Amino acid sequence: MSEATNATNATNTQNDAVKNGDMQKSDVVIDVKDLRKSFGGNEVLKGINCQVHAGEVISIIGPSGAGKSTFLRCLNGLDTPSSGSIVVLGDDIADPKTNIDKTREHIGMVFQHFNLFPNMTVAENITLAPTLIKKVPADKARARALELLRMVGLEEKADANPESLSGGQKQRVAIARSLAMDPQIMLFDEATSALDPEMVGDVLQVIRDLAKKGMTMLLVTHEMAFAREVSTRVIFTDAGVIEEEGTPEQVFGNPQSPRLRSFLSKVL
Ligand SMILES: Nc1ncnc2c1ncn2[C@@H]1O[C@H](COP(=O)(O)OP(=O)(O)O)[C@@H](O)[C@H]1O
Ligand SMILES: [Mg+2]
Repeated sequence: MSEATNATNATNTQNDAVKNGDMQKSDVVIDVKDLRKSFGGNEVLKGINCQVHAGEVISIIGPSGAGKSTFLRCLNGLDTPSSGSIVVLGDDIADPKTNIDKTREHIGMVFQHFNLFPNMTVAENITLAPTLIKKVPADKARARALELLRMVGLEEKADANPESLSGGQKQRVAIARSLAMDPQIMLFDEATSALDPEMVGDVLQVIRDLAKKGMTMLLVTHEMAFAREVSTRVIFTDAGVIEEEGTPEQVFGNPQSPRLRSFLSKVL
């Protein structure tokens, strides 16, 4: 059996353990306690409690304005919490004494808009952070970039200008760029919302592949069928609180809260 197959089997076991609820406390990679965030007088996160275990794939669903983006942004330090704690890989990033840059290296984030650097080639976009921040030698960074581009199906675009790519291709490059830092956790904020429908599938396939490899992920998504298929857990947020959460079967198949039922009736 090849090394790659062994690795896949190992992560499948990990994902299965997550699905079966067998994960230990020590596997907690993100621990959020009573997270609150206000913008001026507007409290958009009203006490979020959430533990994420290694290998979990969590979809966050909910209406526009629920606070989904703000939550993800707090998790990688783009927004500063008003109160509460966010322990990521053992460090409380809500504590001003924590070196947030160090923690952020372990968390990749992909946004709706890809923000590739237009004055660099695709490969240069991917090698920039590893060479600059992690001091990876140029040839190694390049080799890794090509490997990642192969993974997202774009190896032949290494030396292309990002502007020559379609939206879906740009988003796959953005994912590869994020993965180049070897993050332990990936955050996706509506990664397919800005794409033409025919581009969505390829990007979802990349996320699906990451899930199979055991990557810990939080996905804000409107792709309900995909959330149902790929997630180990689904969190429904509304008006700054976690209104309901559970397995995809529970949340989509047997929703309890009236707000979740009403939301699902509009989106399914
Ligand atoms: N930087 C900001 N300044 C002021 N208000 C903000 C800011 N970011 C988000 N908000 C407000 O917080 C609420 C939640 O926004 P957001 O987290 O983007 O929700 P979602 O991603 O679920 O649509 C919205 O009412 C939004 O207007
Ligand atoms: Mg949002």
